[in-house]
Amino acid sequence: MIPRETINQIIETARIEDVVSEFVTLRKRGSNLIGVCPFHKEKTPSFNVNPARNIFKCFGCGKAGDSVRFIMEHEHYSFQEALRYLAKKYGIKIEEREQTPEELAAQNERERMFNINSFAQDYFSNTMMTSDEGQSVGLAYFHERGFRDAIINKFQLGYCPNSGSAFTEYAMKHGYDKDLLIKVGLTGSYENRLYDRYQGRVIFPIHNLTGKVIGFGGRILTSEKTKAKYVNSPESEIYNKSQTLYGIFFARNEISRLDNCILVEGYADVLSMHQAGIENVVASSGTSLTTEQIRMISRYTKNVTMLYDGDAAGIHAALRGTNMILEEGMNVRIVVLPPEDDPDSFVQNNPIEVVTKYLEENARDFIGFKTNLLLKDAKNDPIKRATVIKDIVETIAVIPDPIYRATYIKECSRTLEMPEQTLTNEVNKILRAKYRKQLGLDPKLDQQLSYQEYQTYQPQQQQAEPKDTTPVGFFQEQELVKLLLAHGSETIDIKDQDENGNEVVYTTTIASAIVDDLKNDGLLFRDPTHKKIFDAFDHGLDTDSLPTAQEFISSEDEDVAVLAANLLSTQYKLDDWQRHRIVVRTEDDVLKKTVLTSILRFKDMVIEDRRTALVKELQSCTDPDEQLILLQKKKKLDEIRTRINRDLGIVITK
Ligand code: CTP
Ligand code: MN
Repeated sequence: MIPRETINQIIETARIEDVVSEFVTLRKRGSNLIGVCPFHKEKTPSFNVNPARNIFKCFGCGKAGDSVRFIMEHEHYSFQEALRYLAKKYGIKIEEREQTPEELAAQNERERMFNINSFAQDYFSNTMMTSDEGQSVGLAYFHERGFRDAIINKFQLGYCPNSGSAFTEYAMKHGYDKDLLIKVGLTGSYENRLYDRYQGRVIFPIHNLTGKVIGFGGRILTSEKTKAKYVNSPESEIYNKSQTLYGIFFARNEISRLDNCILVEGYADVLSMHQAGIENVVASSGTSLTTEQIRMISRYTKNVTMLYDGDAAGIHAALRGTNMILEEGMNVRIVVLPPEDDPDSFVQNNPIEVVTKYLEENARDFIGFKTNLLLKDAKNDPIKRATVIKDIVETIAVIPDPIYRATYIKECSRTLEMPEQTLTNEVNKILRAKYRKQLGLDPKLDQQLSYQEYQTYQPQQQQAEPKDTTPVGFFQEQELVKLLLAHGSETIDIKDQDENGNEVVYTTTIASAIVDDLKNDGLLFRDPTHKKIFDAFDHGLDTDSLPTAQEFISSEDEDVAVLAANLLSTQYKLDDWQRHRIVVRTEDDVLKKTVLTSILRFKDMVIEDRRTALVKELQSCTDPDEQLILLQKKKKLDEIRTRINRDLGIVITK
């Protein structure tokens, strides 16, 4: 673990303009620097670097943060990786923090599992490259399949000797724990005897995003039908098959650079493609794709090209899982190889120019591909045709972007020889059911909503639509969060009355003015990210060490970091004053007023909301006792409301 002080030191040293300019050409504009955003496509630069605050923000795509966040986004690093990268770049020595006993307990086992895997990988590689058996069996096998030493070394391939428990004994002699060896699946136990699970197999280590070995696949060398072709690592704390893509560590940079990910099925396919110089390739390892795998790809690109065997099974595999990719808002294309080939054999047997040309010329848009394929099967059978149409309509309905949906409907109406409106109606019917389900209504009730509503309905992005989900008081909350971040530790004078009704003036921090006041009235933030920041200040007040804005900007919690950077970079209306060359008054001038009005506005919103709910409840309430209680509650709220309005009036007019 990197201690907080070191993190702060790294962030202070790594000047944002310096870090960014290694990747983006920046030029000066006012006190800021601007450039073309590396995170989205744009022609006019809207990527802003603010050296004073040490943060960046893109006004085009909304990405924002400090230098650590920039490296995380740009290099697809984790928080810790980004810190280590910057520490290295600026020569900052990282003194690892002692871990707490809980952290140790939790991490120790994971760490130890990683260590065992790394030890095993070394052993398997060395065995293959240096032992007689390794060379004549394992290495010979790979060579025969056309894999050269460069690719063998890069992917750290290996061999496990065919002698019962040679590896297990070797590992235990080196102090590795028997139970953990079994847990990561390197060792098996049968009638109290230990054996190597991968004995006599060639080894494909499986790496995670950061290059650590999290598991292994071991392939048998014979074609015995009685034994499994592949033995794989079992699921464990460090290996989760459904969240893993074989080759992702070696492919991620190319996927990002080429803005496309080629998806194949097997280990050998990945190796052959990489060996041929096509490096944006990963494998789903034989299972159908999972949402986690798709999300992993979507961190690097929205474009997926599925490359599958030309046989029926390959095509079938391609059809599976695709709805899920479309659902994630990705663009899917498919390349079907000649019937006798899989990607491995195709790349091994053809010159690279032929391969790339084939890929270019045969990439089909997925929905068009599927439509044609199914139609060919259905021929003129009207019942089969109806099934095809239903299938295609369901596929189109999962696409989150309404514009793409419309395009596909147009295209499919041509191929299916169906009126566009009929297809649209069918798609809308599905969306309607889905929409109702999301709202918790009976999906079968097909209540008529407007055509426009379904046309623009975006299932995936529903959450992000501020119109639907913005909780009451959201913007008022945000205003308060902004004040906490920008001015939390500054002080203001507050006028109040003591218990005798005498006016007293006391000085307090803005954080305390906001947090304590709201807590007194039992009003808490509803937005989870706002609440995290609120809680941090609350805790800071308790422990007498208020958090700084910088700490939030460099938070490991992405939601918090992005919000903090965004709020702080919009503090001065950058656009406006740049456009009009007007110097606005800073918030400091009106700080006190702002704090008080913001608190009051927030309260006003929440109280109003509660009052509305109460009035509704009153209207439907028939029990006189309960009515009385509700009326009392309402009276209380009305009192608070009057007070708020009075205070607001004072603050505003004063
Ligand atoms: N697979 C697996 N376990 C199995 C079978 C297959 O994990 N018992 C995964 C492997 O990742 C394998 C992929 O599914 O690479 C595809 O399986 P298959 O086509 O049978 O293997 P190939 O990769 O073609 O292997 P090879 O070319 O060596 O026969
Ligand atoms: Mn194969």
